[in-house]
Amino acid sequence: MRNFTNVKDLGNLNDAVQEALEIKKNRFAYKHLGENKTLLMVFFNSSLRTRLSTQKAGMNLGMNTIVLDVNQGAWKLETERGVIMDGDKSEHILEAIPVMGNYCDIIGVRSFARFENKTFDYEETILNQFIKYSGRPVFCMETATGHPLQSFADLITIEEYKEKPRPKVVMSWAPHPNALPQAVPNSFADFMNEADVDFVITHPEGYELDPRFVRNARVEYDQMKAFEGADFVYAKNWSAYMDPNYGKVLNRDRTWTVGERQMAVTNNAHFMHCLPVRRNMIVTDDVIEGPRSLVIPEAANREISAQTVIKRILESL
Ligand code: CP
Repeated sequence: MRNFTNVKDLGNLNDAVQEALEIKKNRFAYKHLGENKTLLMVFFNSSLRTRLSTQKAGMNLGMNTIVLDVNQGAWKLETERGVIMDGDKSEHILEAIPVMGNYCDIIGVRSFARFENKTFDYEETILNQFIKYSGRPVFCMETATGHPLQSFADLITIEEYKEKPRPKVVMSWAPHPNALPQAVPNSFADFMNEADVDFVITHPEGYELDPRFVRNARVEYDQMKAFEGADFVYAKNWSAYMDPNYGKVLNRDRTWTVGERQMAVTNNAHFMHCLPVRRNMIVTDDVIEGPRSLVIPEAANREISAQTVIKRILESL
Protein backbone atom coordinates (compact mmCIF):
# COMPACT_ATOMS: atom_id res chain seq x y z
CA MET A 1 0.00 0.00 0.00
CA ARG A 2 1.49 3.38 -1.04
CA ASN A 3 -1.17 5.79 0.26
CA PHE A 4 -4.20 5.29 2.51
CA THR A 5 -7.10 7.61 1.83
CA ASN A 6 -10.17 5.34 1.72
CA VAL A 7 -11.50 1.83 2.22
CA LYS A 8 -10.44 0.67 -1.25
CA ASP A 9 -6.75 1.10 -0.36
CA LEU A 10 -7.10 -1.83 2.07
CA GLY A 11 -7.99 -4.30 -0.69
CA ASN A 12 -9.90 -7.28 0.71
CA LEU A 13 -11.56 -5.81 3.80
CA ASN A 14 -12.00 -9.10 5.64
CA ASP A 15 -8.27 -9.85 5.20
CA ALA A 16 -7.44 -6.39 6.55
CA VAL A 17 -9.61 -6.92 9.65
CA GLN A 18 -8.07 -10.36 10.28
CA GLU A 19 -4.57 -8.85 9.91
CA ALA A 20 -5.52 -6.13 12.41
CA LEU A 21 -6.75 -8.74 14.91
CA GLU A 22 -3.48 -10.66 14.54
CA ILE A 23 -1.48 -7.46 15.13
CA LYS A 24 -3.57 -6.79 18.24
CA LYS A 25 -2.46 -10.14 19.72
CA ASN A 26 1.22 -9.12 19.47
CA ARG A 27 1.62 -5.48 18.57
CA PHE A 28 5.41 -5.51 18.86
CA ALA A 29 5.97 -8.38 16.40
CA TYR A 30 6.85 -6.01 13.53
CA LYS A 31 9.21 -3.67 15.38
CA HIS A 32 11.98 -4.34 12.85
CA LEU A 33 9.92 -2.84 9.99
CA GLY A 34 10.22 0.74 11.21
CA GLU A 35 13.86 0.71 12.29
CA ASN A 36 15.54 3.99 11.22
CA LYS A 37 12.29 5.16 9.63
CA THR A 38 10.51 8.36 10.60
CA LEU A 39 6.77 9.00 10.77
CA LEU A 40 5.72 12.65 10.45
CA MET A 41 2.20 13.50 11.61
CA VAL A 42 0.97 16.89 10.38
CA PHE A 43 -2.02 18.42 12.18
CA PHE A 44 -3.93 21.41 10.80
CA ASN A 45 -6.66 20.68 13.41
CA SER A 46 -6.93 19.49 17.01
CA SER A 47 -6.80 15.84 18.04
CA LEU A 48 -6.55 13.59 21.07
CA ARG A 49 -7.10 10.01 19.81
CA THR A 50 -5.53 10.30 16.37
CA ARG A 51 -2.42 12.00 17.72
CA LEU A 52 -1.81 9.48 20.51
CA SER A 53 -2.93 6.28 18.78
CA THR A 54 -1.03 6.93 15.55
CA GLN A 55 2.12 7.94 17.39
CA LYS A 56 1.83 4.78 19.50
CA ALA A 57 1.27 2.69 16.36
CA GLY A 58 4.44 4.12 14.81
CA MET A 59 6.41 3.40 17.98
CA ASN A 60 5.06 -0.18 18.12
CA LEU A 61 6.54 -0.60 14.64
CA GLY A 62 9.92 0.74 15.76
CA MET A 63 9.59 4.14 14.05
CA ASN A 64 10.73 7.54 15.19
CA THR A 65 7.72 9.88 15.25
CA ILE A 66 7.51 13.64 14.78
CA VAL A 67 4.34 15.66 15.34
CA LEU A 68 3.87 19.06 13.67
CA ASP A 69 0.99 21.29 14.76
CA VAL A 70 0.83 23.63 11.80
CA ASN A 71 -1.13 26.28 13.66
CA GLN A 72 1.01 26.25 16.80
CA GLY A 73 4.63 27.25 16.26
CA ALA A 74 4.99 26.68 12.51
CA TRP A 75 4.71 29.44 9.90
CA LYS A 76 1.16 30.13 8.82
CA LEU A 77 0.64 28.37 5.50
CA GLU A 78 -1.01 29.66 2.35
CA THR A 79 -2.77 26.79 0.55
CA GLU A 80 -4.09 28.42 -2.66
CA ARG A 81 -1.96 29.07 -5.77
CA GLY A 82 -2.01 32.53 -7.29
CA VAL A 83 -2.56 34.36 -4.01
CA ILE A 84 -0.44 37.51 -3.49
CA MET A 85 1.06 36.67 -0.12
CA ASP A 86 0.91 40.11 1.49
CA GLY A 87 -1.19 38.95 4.47
CA ASP A 88 -0.40 36.97 7.61
CA LYS A 89 0.70 33.75 5.86
CA SER A 90 4.50 33.53 5.64
CA GLU A 91 4.99 30.27 3.74
CA HIS A 92 3.26 28.48 0.88
CA ILE A 93 2.22 24.88 1.36
CA LEU A 94 3.81 24.03 -2.00
CA GLU A 95 7.27 24.70 -0.51
CA ALA A 96 6.40 23.44 2.98
CA ILE A 97 5.25 19.99 1.81
CA PRO A 98 8.42 18.94 -0.07
CA VAL A 99 10.50 20.33 2.81
CA MET A 100 8.53 18.14 5.25
CA GLY A 101 9.05 15.19 2.92
CA ASN A 102 12.84 15.58 3.36
CA TYR A 103 12.61 14.80 7.06
CA CYS A 104 10.54 11.62 7.08
CA ASP A 105 9.59 8.37 5.35
CA ILE A 106 5.79 8.43 5.80
CA ILE A 107 3.41 11.36 6.38
CA GLY A 108 0.01 11.38 8.12
CA VAL A 109 -2.21 14.40 7.48
CA ARG A 110 -5.13 15.84 9.45
CA SER A 111 -6.90 18.70 7.66
CA PHE A 112 -10.64 19.19 8.13
CA ALA A 113 -13.14 20.62 5.68
CA ARG A 114 -13.16 24.41 5.86
CA PHE A 115 -16.69 24.96 4.50
CA GLU A 116 -15.46 27.95 2.45
CA ASN A 117 -15.49 26.14 -0.89
CA LYS A 118 -17.18 22.76 -1.34
CA THR A 119 -15.07 21.90 -4.39
CA PHE A 120 -11.83 22.67 -2.50
CA ASP A 121 -13.03 20.41 0.33
CA TYR A 122 -14.47 17.54 -1.73
CA GLU A 123 -11.49 17.43 -4.12
CA GLU A 124 -9.35 16.80 -1.00
CA THR A 125 -7.06 19.62 -2.13
CA ILE A 126 -4.75 19.60 0.91
CA LEU A 127 -4.39 15.80 1.12
CA ASN A 128 -3.74 15.54 -2.61
CA GLN A 129 -1.09 18.26 -2.42
CA PHE A 130 0.73 16.14 0.17
CA ILE A 131 0.44 13.07 -2.08
CA LYS A 132 1.68 15.01 -5.11
CA TYR A 133 4.48 17.10 -3.63
CA SER A 134 5.89 15.29 -0.57
CA GLY A 135 7.55 12.40 -2.42
CA ARG A 136 6.42 10.18 0.49
CA PRO A 137 3.57 7.76 1.16
CA VAL A 138 0.71 9.66 2.75
CA PHE A 139 -2.16 8.51 4.92
CA CYS A 140 -5.31 10.30 6.01
CA MET A 141 -5.73 11.12 9.71
CA GLU A 142 -9.14 12.75 8.95
CA THR A 143 -9.22 15.09 6.05
CA ALA A 144 -12.00 17.05 4.36
CA THR A 145 -14.17 14.13 3.26
CA GLY A 146 -13.01 11.07 5.16
CA HIS A 147 -11.63 9.51 8.32
CA PRO A 148 -10.78 5.96 7.23
CA LEU A 149 -8.51 5.17 10.21
CA GLN A 150 -11.55 5.76 12.43
CA SER A 151 -13.88 3.66 10.30
CA PHE A 152 -11.34 0.84 10.10
CA ALA A 153 -11.16 0.87 13.94
CA ASP A 154 -14.98 0.91 14.04
CA LEU A 155 -15.15 -2.14 11.79
CA ILE A 156 -12.56 -4.01 13.86
CA THR A 157 -14.69 -3.23 16.93
CA ILE A 158 -17.87 -4.48 15.25
CA GLU A 159 -16.06 -7.69 14.27
CA GLU A 160 -14.98 -8.20 17.89
CA TYR A 161 -18.40 -7.55 19.46
CA LYS A 162 -20.91 -8.84 16.90
CA GLU A 163 -23.20 -11.60 18.14
CA LYS A 164 -24.48 -12.74 14.74
CA PRO A 165 -22.75 -13.17 11.36
CA ARG A 166 -24.54 -10.23 9.68
CA PRO A 167 -25.49 -7.60 12.28
CA LYS A 168 -27.75 -4.62 11.66
CA VAL A 169 -25.71 -1.40 11.94
CA VAL A 170 -27.54 1.94 12.13
CA MET A 171 -25.71 5.24 11.69
CA SER A 172 -27.76 8.05 13.20
CA TRP A 173 -27.37 11.80 12.88
CA ALA A 174 -27.59 13.51 16.30
CA PRO A 175 -27.62 17.20 17.23
CA HIS A 176 -24.56 19.36 17.94
CA PRO A 177 -24.16 23.10 18.52
CA ASN A 178 -21.54 23.57 15.77
CA ALA A 179 -21.16 22.79 12.08
CA LEU A 180 -19.15 19.56 11.85
CA PRO A 181 -17.65 18.00 8.71
CA GLN A 182 -19.14 14.93 6.99
CA ALA A 183 -15.78 13.06 7.09
CA VAL A 184 -16.66 10.49 9.77
CA PRO A 185 -20.13 9.57 8.43
CA ASN A 186 -18.78 9.48 4.85
CA SER A 187 -16.05 7.01 5.77
CA PHE A 188 -18.28 4.97 8.06
CA ALA A 189 -20.77 4.57 5.20
CA ASP A 190 -17.92 3.68 2.85
CA PHE A 191 -16.71 0.91 5.17
CA MET A 192 -20.15 -0.43 6.10
CA ASN A 193 -21.11 -0.64 2.43
CA GLU A 194 -18.10 -2.93 1.91
CA ALA A 195 -18.62 -4.95 5.11
CA ASP A 196 -20.96 -7.90 5.67
CA VAL A 197 -23.58 -5.93 7.64
CA ASP A 198 -27.16 -4.74 7.16
CA PHE A 199 -26.50 -0.99 7.02
CA VAL A 200 -29.08 1.78 7.60
CA ILE A 201 -28.54 5.55 7.77
CA THR A 202 -31.01 7.79 9.59
CA HIS A 203 -31.08 11.59 9.69
CA PRO A 204 -33.54 14.48 9.42
CA GLU A 205 -34.40 15.72 5.95
CA GLY A 206 -31.75 18.07 4.63
CA TYR A 207 -28.83 16.06 6.03
CA GLU A 208 -28.41 13.77 3.01
CA LEU A 209 -24.76 12.76 2.53
CA ASP A 210 -22.81 12.60 -0.71
CA PRO A 211 -24.35 9.74 -2.75
CA ARG A 212 -20.82 8.49 -3.57
CA PHE A 213 -20.53 7.41 0.08
CA VAL A 214 -24.16 6.43 0.72
CA ARG A 215 -24.25 4.21 -2.37
CA ASN A 216 -27.05 1.63 -1.94
CA ALA A 217 -27.44 1.97 1.84
CA ARG A 218 -31.02 2.26 3.12
CA VAL A 219 -31.81 5.81 4.25
CA GLU A 220 -34.65 6.05 6.81
CA TYR A 221 -35.88 9.48 7.94
CA ASP A 222 -37.79 8.02 10.93
CA GLN A 223 -35.11 7.46 13.57
CA MET A 224 -37.25 5.13 15.73
CA LYS A 225 -38.07 2.96 12.71
CA ALA A 226 -34.39 2.82 11.73
CA PHE A 227 -33.39 1.70 15.24
CA GLU A 228 -35.79 -1.28 15.34
CA GLY A 229 -33.77 -4.47 15.75
CA ALA A 230 -30.40 -2.71 15.48
CA ASP A 231 -27.36 -4.58 16.79
CA PHE A 232 -25.05 -1.56 16.65
CA VAL A 233 -26.00 2.13 16.84
CA TYR A 234 -23.36 4.54 15.54
CA ALA A 235 -24.21 8.12 16.47
CA LYS A 236 -22.61 11.13 14.81
CA ASN A 237 -23.38 14.71 13.99
CA TRP A 238 -22.67 16.20 10.60
CA SER A 239 -23.55 19.45 8.88
CA ALA A 240 -25.52 19.65 5.64
CA TYR A 241 -23.77 18.41 2.50
CA MET A 242 -26.31 19.33 -0.14
CA ASP A 243 -26.32 22.75 -1.84
CA PRO A 244 -27.21 25.48 -1.04
CA ASN A 245 -26.74 24.50 2.62
CA TYR A 246 -23.25 22.98 2.46
CA GLY A 247 -21.60 23.23 5.89
CA LYS A 248 -24.67 24.64 7.63
CA VAL A 249 -26.48 23.53 10.81
CA LEU A 250 -30.13 23.07 9.80
CA ASN A 251 -31.49 22.06 13.18
CA ARG A 252 -30.50 21.12 16.72
CA ASP A 253 -33.51 18.89 17.39
CA ARG A 254 -32.73 17.09 20.65
CA THR A 255 -35.40 14.46 20.05
CA TRP A 256 -32.61 12.92 17.90
CA THR A 257 -30.26 12.67 20.93
CA VAL A 258 -29.63 8.93 21.39
CA GLY A 259 -31.16 7.86 24.71
CA GLU A 260 -32.97 4.99 26.39
CA ARG A 261 -36.12 5.70 24.30
CA GLN A 262 -34.33 4.87 21.04
CA MET A 263 -32.15 2.08 22.47
CA ALA A 264 -35.27 0.32 23.82
CA VAL A 265 -36.41 -0.65 20.30
CA THR A 266 -33.02 -2.08 19.29
CA ASN A 267 -31.78 -5.65 19.68
CA ASN A 268 -29.95 -4.61 22.89
CA ALA A 269 -27.63 -2.68 20.58
CA HIS A 270 -24.08 -1.69 21.29
CA PHE A 271 -23.59 2.08 21.26
CA MET A 272 -20.71 3.52 19.24
CA HIS A 273 -19.27 7.00 18.69
CA CYS A 274 -15.86 8.05 17.42
CA LEU A 275 -15.32 10.62 20.22
CA PRO A 276 -15.01 13.39 21.23
CA VAL A 277 -18.71 13.43 22.03
CA ARG A 278 -21.02 16.12 23.43
CA ARG A 279 -23.04 14.38 26.16
CA ASN A 280 -26.77 15.01 26.20
CA MET A 281 -26.56 16.48 22.71
CA ILE A 282 -25.39 13.39 20.79
CA VAL A 283 -26.05 10.76 23.50
CA THR A 284 -27.36 10.68 27.05
CA ASP A 285 -25.11 10.01 30.04
CA ASP A 286 -26.94 6.74 30.70
CA VAL A 287 -26.38 5.29 27.23
CA ILE A 288 -22.73 6.26 26.89
CA GLU A 289 -21.98 4.97 30.39
CA GLY A 290 -24.13 1.86 29.94
CA PRO A 291 -22.88 -1.73 29.63
CA ARG A 292 -23.43 -1.81 25.85
CA SER A 293 -21.35 1.29 25.14
CA LEU A 294 -18.23 0.57 23.05
CA VAL A 295 -16.74 4.06 22.88
CA ILE A 296 -13.60 3.14 24.85
CA PRO A 297 -12.76 -0.16 23.03
CA GLU A 298 -13.47 1.65 19.77
CA ALA A 299 -10.93 4.35 20.64
CA ALA A 300 -8.44 1.67 21.74
CA ASN A 301 -8.73 0.08 18.30
CA ARG A 302 -7.48 3.31 16.71
CA GLU A 303 -3.98 2.14 17.64
CA ILE A 304 -4.62 -1.14 15.82
CA SER A 305 -6.12 0.37 12.66
CA ALA A 306 -3.23 2.84 12.43
CA GLN A 307 -0.66 0.13 13.02
CA THR A 308 -2.14 -2.10 10.31
CA VAL A 309 -2.06 0.75 7.80
CA ILE A 310 1.46 1.96 8.66
CA LYS A 311 2.75 -1.65 8.66
CA ARG A 312 1.41 -2.15 5.14
CA ILE A 313 2.99 1.13 3.98
CA LEU A 314 6.35 0.18 5.56
CA GLU A 315 6.20 -3.20 3.79
CA SER A 316 5.83 -1.36 0.47
CA LEU A 317 8.85 0.94 0.90
N1 CP B 1 -11.97 10.19 16.74
C1 CP B 1 -10.95 11.02 16.56
O1 CP B 1 -10.41 11.16 15.45
O2 CP B 1 -10.56 11.69 17.67
P1 CP B 1 -9.57 12.93 17.69
O3 CP B 1 -10.23 14.05 16.92
O4 CP B 1 -9.38 13.27 19.14
O5 CP B 1 -8.28 12.53 17.03
